[in-house]
Amino acid sequence: MCKNIAVLVSGGGTNLQALIDAEKRGELGNGKITCVISSKADAYALTRATDNGIKTRVLIRKDFSDIASYSKAMRDILLEEKADLVVYAGFMTILDENVCDTFENKMINVHPALIPSFCGKGFYGLHVHESALEKGVKVSGATVHFVTAECDAGPIILQKAVEVKEGDTPETLQKRIMQEAEWKILPKAVQLFCDGKITVADGKTIISE
Ligand code: GAR
Repeated sequence: MCKNIAVLVSGGGTNLQALIDAEKRGELGNGKITCVISSKADAYALTRATDNGIKTRVLIRKDFSDIASYSKAMRDILLEEKADLVVYAGFMTILDENVCDTFENKMINVHPALIPSFCGKGFYGLHVHESALEKGVKVSGATVHFVTAECDAGPIILQKAVEVKEGDTPETLQKRIMQEAEWKILPKAVQLFCDGKITVADGKTIISE
């Protein structure tokens, strides 16, 4: 049976675009992107969704007094949309355990570093790459993992390493990691999930291909 995929976004939506393109190529397995939900009204990701005939919804964090009420509203929307899989694709808000428990092992996130490096609270977007360059790592990359209430700590599904080059700026490193890692492993992880090939045991995933 077809799996409804809800994609959560906050910004440019290049990872959303990678998912849309993969779906068009028939590479999301049983999955279909049925809804894009943005935490920002002006996120370009919303235009990408509309241009591709995908339903959009906006749930602005600032409209809610705290994370609990925001999370509850998001949970209600995800249930209303009958989401079988929730994908954080550059979604910059941390949702509470209410959502994480309801969608346990059904929410995945793409993070622009090799977890457990450069992850957790405060590590998002360009900040991740700034920290990697500051440390002087020679290799960084991307990770797709299940979302749990603890930020960036859920079971790891896929990772891909990317070389850091001499003279890299946070922007050039971000771009290379997106192109070489994120846009590949995010659609692949979605495909694996939708085809029922990921199981979780003891905080780790087992992938059967
Ligand atoms: C991506 O690099 C994604 O990995 C990162 O934000 C960027 C969003 O780009 N996410 C995080 O840092 C989450 N902790 P996009 O809107 O073009 O997909």
